[in-house]
Amino acid sequence: MSNKIQTLSGYFHEYQKSVLDPETFWARIGESFYWRKQWDETVSWDFEKPDVKWFVNGKLNITENIFERYLHTKGDTPAIIWEPNDPNEANRIVTYRELFEMTNQFCNALKAQGIEKGDRVIIYMPMVPEAAVAMLACARLGAIHSVVFAGFSSSALADRINDCEAKMVLTSDGNYRGAKQIPVKAVVDEAVESTPSIEKVIVLNRTGEEVTMKEGRDIWWHDAIANQSTDFAATEMDSEDLLFILYTSGSTGKPKGVVHTTGGYMVYAEYSFSNVFQYTPGDIYWCTADIGWITGHSYIVYGPLLAGGTTLMFEGVPTFPHAGRFWEIVDKYKVNQFYTAPTAIRALQVHGLEPIQPYSLNSLKVIGSVGEPINEEAWHWYHDHIGKGNCPLVDTWWQTETGGIMISALAGITPNKPAHASLPLPGIQPIIVDAEGNELKGNNVEGNLCIKFPWPSMIRTTYGDHEKCKNVYFSAYKNMYFTGDGAKRDHDGYLRILGRVDDVINVSGHRMGTAEVENAINEHPKVVESAVVGYPHDVKGQGIYAYVICDMTGRTEDSLKAEIKDTVRKIIGPIAKPDMVQIVPGLPKTRSGKIMRRILRKVASKDISNLGDTSTLLNPEVVDDIIKGAGL
Ligand code: WTA
Repeated sequence: MSNKIQTLSGYFHEYQKSVLDPETFWARIGESFYWRKQWDETVSWDFEKPDVKWFVNGKLNITENIFERYLHTKGDTPAIIWEPNDPNEANRIVTYRELFEMTNQFCNALKAQGIEKGDRVIIYMPMVPEAAVAMLACARLGAIHSVVFAGFSSSALADRINDCEAKMVLTSDGNYRGAKQIPVKAVVDEAVESTPSIEKVIVLNRTGEEVTMKEGRDIWWHDAIANQSTDFAATEMDSEDLLFILYTSGSTGKPKGVVHTTGGYMVYAEYSFSNVFQYTPGDIYWCTADIGWITGHSYIVYGPLLAGGTTLMFEGVPTFPHAGRFWEIVDKYKVNQFYTAPTAIRALQVHGLEPIQPYSLNSLKVIGSVGEPINEEAWHWYHDHIGKGNCPLVDTWWQTETGGIMISALAGITPNKPAHASLPLPGIQPIIVDAEGNELKGNNVEGNLCIKFPWPSMIRTTYGDHEKCKNVYFSAYKNMYFTGDGAKRDHDGYLRILGRVDDVINVSGHRMGTAEVENAINEHPKVVESAVVGYPHDVKGQGIYAYVICDMTGRTEDSLKAEIKDTVRKIIGPIAKPDMVQIVPGLPKTRSGKIMRRILRKVASKDISNLGDTSTLLNPEVVDDIIKGAGL
């Protein structure tokens, strides 16, 4: 790939060019794609509104940049290698031509079921090739996909459907997840009881379990595609037409629908993929994320396929049927680039080195990390035992909102530094600011991480609520995108991400808004008030700690705690279930009634050495009760 950086000096050179003249830089990258009509202007932007457009008035279809672009040379090349949850089930290898035909056929099925350009389609599916087909078919037809992680509860699913007024849900009868079988269709059935916009549900037969199919609404995937042609002419899209909406948690109660558009996202997904992983066509690349998260969008589906690559998709979990499953798969397919989350590494670290021993892992060239800060211990374990000390480890910092990797080493090019995401990709202009928004220049500085110039795959809006986008990301500091993360630039000029500075906690690499969890807890009839904070957790990175004021009549403390956990599981999903629930007589509040979370965070992390001045609290006495109740 001509836009692939090869050396460290090449990186600095490209970076310089991208900052001095971003238009020329991105126009050059953009030109390597297939556009039906060239753009008029490379970027137009105003962070005040915010209003950001890339490749203005360009016309294209992102799937033509996967299929029409590569079919003549890569028709028989594997696009997706699929490894099932159960190693005894047959795997699947889907070539570019097969993926093209499956996508077209599904486009025709979507059209026959009434989907048109601009309609919203929810994808609530297991990790099977059809999930990628579903995304690509939406993109080819011009429908806007919104993938919802299939571990979310029916009420979380319904909220997302209603927020974007989706017309259709694509799902399966059930999902396999390790030793468990999850009745997904039943979750959808429950959700769509309260979603008036849903007209049709298409159901993939995955587990063969008994499901109820509602006449006139539900249709099997195999019936929907039967008799459909494998030809479909891609819909012409404007650069700024919506490609997808992906819901993510923030500090406000409700998840936000982050909007990504077609042209810029395409250009950045491929550019960042090829450069960070130093992907060379022919390599086998594996990212262990789920397509329900942005990592699955950009680095399982779009990035690798836009690069003409081979992407491995794994349906299962790292520890099923044994703790060596990841490494077994690496050897089985001779994986060259492996991309996972620190939480998975820490979970496997617990099992020691024995599960790794049967495997050589010598196909690996690059290993990567994403989703949360990787602690030094996990970094070294990953680097030494998986990378065998000779694979560059790319610690990639980015967000749902950024669409692609923003700060990362380029594999084998940027020197590795444990726990440092390191340097920005070309075109990315991060700055560290103090609380007033003053830029902290030079090295050895620490503050809030902002980005001061637009990049092609950045968030355009939050679906249906542009004010929210403005308030959350563009109002904290004038003329800057605020990430919500703290960062430090060390003495070498390398960036280290310090974690969220807002009320978002990162549980096993998944973002959870504390307000969202509190809202769920407060649904329990016995709960009077709650406050949720994060605390250090050995495997998950952060755990969820809930302080709850309850009416205890008719309950024991244990039964109430269990009920509260269950309420959260039902309302959001298992990933949001609090690890700790402490029943408290009150919550520490300022005189203006604001909860002093700083104190709660300290107690949750068992560090009460320096609680600061509590005398200004409305109710200083509750602090002692809380400390006592926590057993400290
Ligand atoms: C955190 C995931 C440290 C960060 C792609 C960010 C990281 C949030 C890293 C976004 C990393 C992600 N080092 N922290 N390499 N990668 N984060 O939207 O707090 O699910 O703001 O996107 O994860 O999470 P999201």
